[in-house]
Amino acid sequence: MVRLRFNGSLAMGLLLLQTVLLLILYCKHNKPVARTEAKVHLLILSSWRSGSSFVGQIFSQHPKVFYLMEPAWHVWVSMFQNSAKVLHMAVRDLVRSVFLCDMSVFDAYMPKQRNVSTLFQWATSRALCTDPACKIFERDHITNESSCKTVCGKYPFDNIEQVCSMYSHVVIKEVRFFDLKVLYPLLNDPSLNFKVIHLVRDPRAVAKSREQSRKAFMRDNGIVLNTNGTKVDDIKYEVIQEICRSHVQIYETATYKAPSFLKDRYMLVRYEDVVQEPLKEIMQMYEFAHLQLTPKLKKWIHNITHGQSPGNRKEAFVITSRNAANVSQAWRNILSFEKVKKIQNVCKGAMKMLGYLPVDSMSEQEDLSIDVVLPRKRSQFSWL
Ligand SMILES: *[C@@H]1O[C@H](CO)[C@@H](O)[C@H](O)[C@H]1NC(C)=O
Ligand SMILES: *[C@@H]1O[C@H](CO)[C@@H](O)[C@H](O)[C@H]1NC(C)=O
Ligand SMILES: *[C@@H]1O[C@H](CO)[C@@H](O)[C@H](O)[C@H]1NC(C)=O
Ligand SMILES: *[C@@H]1O[C@H](CO)[C@@H](O)[C@H](O)[C@H]1NC(C)=O
Ligand SMILES: *[C@@H]1O[C@H](CO)[C@@H](O)[C@H](O)[C@H]1NC(C)=O
Repeated sequence: MVRLRFNGSLAMGLLLLQTVLLLILYCKHNKPVARTEAKVHLLILSSWRSGSSFVGQIFSQHPKVFYLMEPAWHVWVSMFQNSAKVLHMAVRDLVRSVFLCDMSVFDAYMPKQRNVSTLFQWATSRALCTDPACKIFERDHITNESSCKTVCGKYPFDNIEQVCSMYSHVVIKEVRFFDLKVLYPLLNDPSLNFKVIHLVRDPRAVAKSREQSRKAFMRDNGIVLNTNGTKVDDIKYEVIQEICRSHVQIYETATYKAPSFLKDRYMLVRYEDVVQEPLKEIMQMYEFAHLQLTPKLKKWIHNITHGQSPGNRKEAFVITSRNAANVSQAWRNILSFEKVKKIQNVCKGAMKMLGYLPVDSMSEQEDLSIDVVLPRKRSQFSWL
């Protein structure tokens, strides 16, 4: 039997040891530096016409971010006779590879003869438009699609892989996930530090925006509705219904039935809140992604949200604080009440969950003094 003799110096030693251990523990919990330096793999999970191009740009323009917009477009185009559900796994596999900067995954979907410009929406990626991908623009330059397109597309496709690996943050925007569980393997993957921003928008505003370019959505609609390659015009709002259903599934799974590995890895963002208070919402998204707002980005964000970016015609970029409400409420003057009723009917659950109020009459719809977007309630997460 060992007998411990408590003398003064032993007690002193134990006390010292305890203090050191506590200090180490304390530092571990209060050391944002280590986490900021780690790689981050962020998915902006959204749907068509929900402000995801805008939010994508907010990340793309950050000098620490390698961004791609809709890389899984290539999967859907190549296998358009399948359903979204069947394609989920291929989409997830592609997203995982891109996060790890392994661009060989595109071999399956692209011709052998290719260059940077073969990649869908490549010019929305600031990283592919600045040094070292394209030496004409500095890495911290704010780039735009049109000026990048004219000079940076001709470089070898393989450059994308090298450029990607130079960045601490890889951010991908996708509209092709309809189920959060599909992403669980990425959350459990030790080679990834995976996070999700789930971006939603009032389905009536989404429907209005989709109606303005109906043709463009017909092939994707067929995939969502599993029509074996037949193009579909979504006049019955079946696609909108599926989108709403998926938002409910994703939000509910992440909020009420969340497995522990989702902790600190899921964030819901409503486009209306971004429009209303851009800087506040953007800073929260950056914090979630362990990114810092630079003075230059702050100025740029102020510019684009106050309509001071001449030549930039994209809807998302012309929101000013003065007309912000009126941009997100344009549907109220444009959609017929009949259509609004149908959308409210197929999206009842999603609207209730996300805080969008239905309108009960045409006069209510047109009366802009009636606010139909409830203040966001930050719901408490519960872990299984
Ligand atoms: C490479 O890019 C340029 C324009 O950016 C294009 O004209 C050319 O056809 C591309 N080459 C290949 C092999 O894809
Ligand atoms: C799907 O379409 C292809 C060609 O259009 C056809 O050969 C195939 O039989 C169709 N499959 C089903 C299940 O209808
Ligand atoms: C913001 O807008 C002003 C005026 O148009 C322009 O001079 C400035 O370069 C812009 N800054 C950024 C960072 O976009
Ligand atoms: C893109 O940037 C260039 C120069 O940086 C500017 O001349 C042009 O107007 C911009 N285009 C758009 C669409 O913003
Ligand atoms: C936005 O507001 C302006 C002026 O208040 C008005 O002229 C315009 O029609 C409104 N636009 C929409 C889409 O509601």
